[in-house]
Amino acid sequence: MSYHGNGPIVLGIETSCDETAAAVVDAFTEVKSNIIATQHDLHRVYAGVVPEIASREHLQRILPVIRESLTEAGVTLSQLDAIAVTNRPGLIGSLLVGVSAAKALAWSLEIPVIGVDHIVAHLYAGLLDEKPVDFPAIGLVVSGGHSSIFHLQSSIDCELLGKTIDDAVGEAYDKTATILGLGYPGGPALDKLAQQGDDSAHDLPIAQLGRDSLDFSFSGLKTAMLYAVRGQPQKQGNSHVFMRSADDLTPQQIADFAASFQRAAATALLRKLKTALDRYDVSTLLVGGGVSANSRLRNELTELADKRNLDLRLPEMQYCMDNAAMIAGLASEKFKANAFDDWTLTASPRMQPTVTGRIEA
Ligand code: KG4
Ligand code: ZN
Repeated sequence: MSYHGNGPIVLGIETSCDETAAAVVDAFTEVKSNIIATQHDLHRVYAGVVPEIASREHLQRILPVIRESLTEAGVTLSQLDAIAVTNRPGLIGSLLVGVSAAKALAWSLEIPVIGVDHIVAHLYAGLLDEKPVDFPAIGLVVSGGHSSIFHLQSSIDCELLGKTIDDAVGEAYDKTATILGLGYPGGPALDKLAQQGDDSAHDLPIAQLGRDSLDFSFSGLKTAMLYAVRGQPQKQGNSHVFMRSADDLTPQQIADFAASFQRAAATALLRKLKTALDRYDVSTLLVGGGVSANSRLRNELTELADKRNLDLRLPEMQYCMDNAAMIAGLASEKFKANAFDDWTLTASPRMQPTVTGRIEA
């Protein structure tokens, strides 16, 4: 392997959901470029990601996005040491576009390909462009597809401690935003509105799932919001219909619902996180995923870290959402550990925990 002096130059590719992204990360995980083409406009009308549309769009965009990432980084293909790609978990058709592109590029350049777990990579986002952290650490991933807690021995060696048993927290944000008429994906809009609302206006349910469990559940919270906003459905002929909608609420009432939801969601996350921190002796807290951009969650995590004297690594805003810099960054750790893949690398819709819950990043 050539190290170009200080470490590998890695091109990362991310196509697991509805963002086509490519990034170049240098030695010491300094981000040289971070290009993201989102498809939100295409999926908005369906209020969710349509897998077939997503994979077709990735095909159209992947090469221009890779080219742009190299140009912006000022790096040529021949200078790359490895190609990293998200190969799990995600939408299988979308993942396959990235994995095929990565393998073809790596094969033609005669450099290694490195498959990366998208969820574990979210925890690397707070380490990009930053000084290294101490391990072991506790990690919290909060995104549109996942809500998970990990215990990490290193960036690439982690154990899944708990996860959502139904909706992810970002999904609950997006569905609640739709109920409140805020558009899709509504997490950022709901966050903004919540800042003008009274968070004690509504008492919404926070799932416990047993005192020892580190799992989350957000579907009850979402359903409670649905009934609180629209009322109980009434029988009309053979079906049940809602008699109210967000259109019947005043702007202040909508803001109060948003604030109350946000309080419940943050409380649910913080409770389980505190349980994990009580159970494991760590000095570092890693957080990642789209919902780590949330203002209330960021404040509460910062307070918690101050109180417990933890080195909290919250990603910069540009690295909260799906991006390829976190993929290339985590891959450069795998590169240093000689953890390469071969040409049998393929995509999987699921994470790959072993029986002990240990995850290969
Ligand atoms: O990590 P991400 O980009 O994609 C997945 O891997 O799922 O996360 C997207 C999710 C969406 O549900 C979006 O509504 C949510 O992150 N999100 C937020 C905020 N910004 C993005 N949720 C709450 N508050 C925010 N400020
Ligand atoms: Zn993600």
